[in-house]
Amino acid sequence: MCGIVGFSGNQQAAPVLLDGLRKMEYRGYDSAGVAVIDRQRIELAKVKGRIDNLSELTKEGSLIHGVCGIGHTRWATHGAPNDINAHPHLSNDGRFAVVHNGIIENFAELREELISKGFEFKSQTDTEVVVNLIELYYTGDLKIAIMKTVNRLEGSYGLGIISKDEPGTIFAVKQSSPLIIGLGAGETIFASDVTAIVPYTKSVIYLDDGEIAEVRKDGVKIFDASGREIQKPVKRINWNVAAAEKGGYEHFMLKEIMEQPAALRATIEPRIKDDRIKLDDFYLSAGDLKNINKIVITACGSAYYAGCVGKYAIEQLCRIPVDVQLASELQYSDPMIDEHTLLIVLSQSGETADTRSAMEECKRRGARTLAIVNVVESSVAKLADDVIYTWAGPEIAVATTKGFTTQVAVLYMFALYAASLLGRVDDARYSELLTEIRNFPKMIQEALDMNTGISRLAPIFAKQNSVFFIGRQSDWAIALEGALKLKEISYVHAEAYAAGEIKHGTIALIDEGQPVVAICANDRLRDKTKSNMMEAKARGAHVIALAKADDRAMVAEADDCIFIPVTENIFSALLAIIPLQLLAYYVAKERGCDIDKPRNLAKSVTVE
Ligand code: M6R
Repeated sequence: MCGIVGFSGNQQAAPVLLDGLRKMEYRGYDSAGVAVIDRQRIELAKVKGRIDNLSELTKEGSLIHGVCGIGHTRWATHGAPNDINAHPHLSNDGRFAVVHNGIIENFAELREELISKGFEFKSQTDTEVVVNLIELYYTGDLKIAIMKTVNRLEGSYGLGIISKDEPGTIFAVKQSSPLIIGLGAGETIFASDVTAIVPYTKSVIYLDDGEIAEVRKDGVKIFDASGREIQKPVKRINWNVAAAEKGGYEHFMLKEIMEQPAALRATIEPRIKDDRIKLDDFYLSAGDLKNINKIVITACGSAYYAGCVGKYAIEQLCRIPVDVQLASELQYSDPMIDEHTLLIVLSQSGETADTRSAMEECKRRGARTLAIVNVVESSVAKLADDVIYTWAGPEIAVATTKGFTTQVAVLYMFALYAASLLGRVDDARYSELLTEIRNFPKMIQEALDMNTGISRLAPIFAKQNSVFFIGRQSDWAIALEGALKLKEISYVHAEAYAAGEIKHGTIALIDEGQPVVAICANDRLRDKTKSNMMEAKARGAHVIALAKADDRAMVAEADDCIFIPVTENIFSALLAIIPLQLLAYYVAKERGCDIDKPRNLAKSVTVE
């Protein structure tokens, strides 16, 4: 969703801001803008549409002068995407400019109040109240005016604020919306996403909620909510610039699909020592586990489907009931969660608003929380009692791939680790399963290699109005994720069903040529799913079966087959998703879609 960048240094700010905004393009946006202070004037440029439009308008930033400024990519919430609603917004007197991520929930009352005091509003955004409140409270000390302003705000906000009276200074404020400050040599850059900072410096300070930063080219001062200066640790970012670039691939999504063996290796290997899983970052004793009577997994979108895959593995190995709930639903369900519940929260970005809110609700009820997150120091990571990071590196494509598979791998590791603590897996089985986990990177590479020709199926799918995915248990979870991948990037309607359910209604939709992808990766359920597949075929469906490589009999049953390497049933879902990611990619390509930035979607969904 929205992205914020701010820069103070010796070089011209506008090109740096444009570059930072480009790095955050993947998050999804519909307009962009910059504001730079030049000799006690604020120069502003903002425009609907792509950053290319802004770049063209400003001649790559060369028409905007000054060495200190702020920039923004907006994903519309209040007011249509247009030039006026685009950020930055100016105060009535033109003294201040503000960029804002998040939502000011009480903006309507504040707007009325400001109108009654004579302020005028140009846009329909919630942000314009912020900049006018700053004007209202300003009596010569910008920090004080900002503190008074944020005291009035309800909701979430990451803010970047400049004043024409203070050239060279930017204030940044954080509340439930990420802000990271990068400390360079003679220049300071801040952003809502580390990808905008990495090209300039790897030394960063993560702001916490309620903190205010006064950013200058020679460094930063941080204040707590009461205005007292505080010291914060400087940390190192371990992502590199190349990781956030396409590296010769046509799309980030394809690059990230291909990076999965390496992402899995980085996530798994450091956590296996002396032939045991050691989750150093997560301490759980056998006593703690025995005190837990259920596990609740919560997440959104693909992360929710990763949770569905994890449920089967945890229940099978640990014999603890696992309830997987959509975060957007869980928070309103008056959940039966207490101190005997372990809440596992999955989030690639760590900034998904629904996930964060569900987590807050469960924490209030006493649950112990374990977050499985990819972005270091993200909101979800900070809220959790324990964090296990998926070391997938930056994921730029909106459609998650390596984010998903690393989440699944961590859940499998957690399942085996917890089963061993509980004494529910014997040594021989433990080491068999551990060997299989160690082999994940290799097997994912094999799954990729086996499916290099999958683009042959793309023309079949590309002309469809609708595709069905079916499967049972963890194959069903993969059917759900496979369908989501296809619809979000190719805009072909796709729906996933528990295979045994189609005869209870959905089969009415099947007629000649209807594609049905049947996931038969789990041998134990393969015959049952095959029967459902045959029911669909008997009604004219074009059936594509996904099966293990040794299941050659499937060739005679289905119209087309997709194969994956042979693995333990408990882990087969991890491999089954690989060809479905590729399939979705090639269908989207066949249809000429904007694969990395699908319409209406944002990479991290920071509104509920
Ligand atoms: O960052 P998160 O893992 O919390 O994101 C959750 C979903 O928004 C995300 O998985 C979404 O469904 C992806 N676009 C799917 O590819």
